[in-house]
Amino acid sequence: MKIKKNISLKNYNTFGIDVKAKFFCEINSINELEQALQLEDYPKKFIVSGGSNMLFTKNVDALVLYINIKGITILEESNDHVILKVMAGEIWHDMVLWTLDHDYGGLENMSLIPGNTGTAPIQNIGAYGVELKDTFVSCEAMEIGTQTLRRFTKEQCNFGYRDSYFKNKGKGKYIITSVTFKLTKRQHQLNTSYGAIEEELSRKGITKPTIKDVSNAVVTIRRSKLPDPKVLGNSGSFFKNPVLNKTEFGSFIVSHPKAKFYKISDDLYKIPAGWLIEQCGYKGKRFGNTGVHKDQALVLVNYGNATGKDIMGLANTIMESVYETYKIRIIPEVNIIK
Ligand code: EPU
Repeated sequence: MKIKKNISLKNYNTFGIDVKAKFFCEINSINELEQALQLEDYPKKFIVSGGSNMLFTKNVDALVLYINIKGITILEESNDHVILKVMAGEIWHDMVLWTLDHDYGGLENMSLIPGNTGTAPIQNIGAYGVELKDTFVSCEAMEIGTQTLRRFTKEQCNFGYRDSYFKNKGKGKYIITSVTFKLTKRQHQLNTSYGAIEEELSRKGITKPTIKDVSNAVVTIRRSKLPDPKVLGNSGSFFKNPVLNKTEFGSFIVSHPKAKFYKISDDLYKIPAGWLIEQCGYKGKRFGNTGVHKDQALVLVNYGNATGKDIMGLANTIMESVYETYKIRIIPEVNIIK
């Protein structure tokens, strides 16, 4: 375990923000993680993994632990299912491709999501009608204070829309070290009801899609809307889609009958924040080093030299504008590191 000083974190966050870590250490095993957490000379520790859901607004005055623990293990298997344990540092999309190569179904709709597997449960990542929680069995996490490993069941994770125990009561207390999934080996449950997937499959003339076909369709759709972080720094959706109750939705839709919305339940309606932001005129607009992506208004981008403060400035302007126009508060989905 080697501790480096004054390391730029530009390559460790998909926004490509150039802040410095006072100290930096790469963690390749559970043992190393335990040892690093016990280093008393560095009382402040900060965890980074895929860096795909964070916005740095200043240098990190701490020992940054970069979680790079690798490994995929089959824990159990029957004719129908496989139980897979994936270590936190596995790159999410590479892991999804590995499951597809083995014809294991369940993760295909979540192809090409940036980030690492260990951070996926924190915000219960999701795309195209599927969320992490749908195939999640449990995860293991090290308690930072005691360096003990603890197993969390699905119920204990308390998953919600882009939400979990780890974003609430468990915030800052644990480092997820592995995630266990239950995937199908046959009779895969395809989820193609999300409009764009069906359109893409029929465009390709595919009538009986395999899980690989669904993944390919998702990859095509994502590439057409979402910028590649290696080319244009970004963190996927910057904001969550706001959820309104029936009364709030009722008055909103009367004043804005053309608005897009999804009914979640009898009492809850989700409004696409991308639509609200586009209506406020921000889609495709550039402000110096930052801007709103031209194909998806929910995505803020770094044109090269933006600081976290530049991006936060634009985010605040957008949030105020949406509130002024629609009286709806949108909030960041990305973790803002202040
Ligand atoms: N829309 C607009 N203008 C825009 C963007 C979207 O009008 O600029 C409208 C679209 O017409 C569409 C609706 O908003 O009717 C929804 O758009 P989209 O399908 O692109 O999905 P989203 O709700 O904007 C969510 C997730 C994405 C995920 C997609 C697909 C959140 C915060 N975002 O976006 O997740 O890929 O659905 O399932 O829930 C992420 O979390 O980083 C992320 C990219």
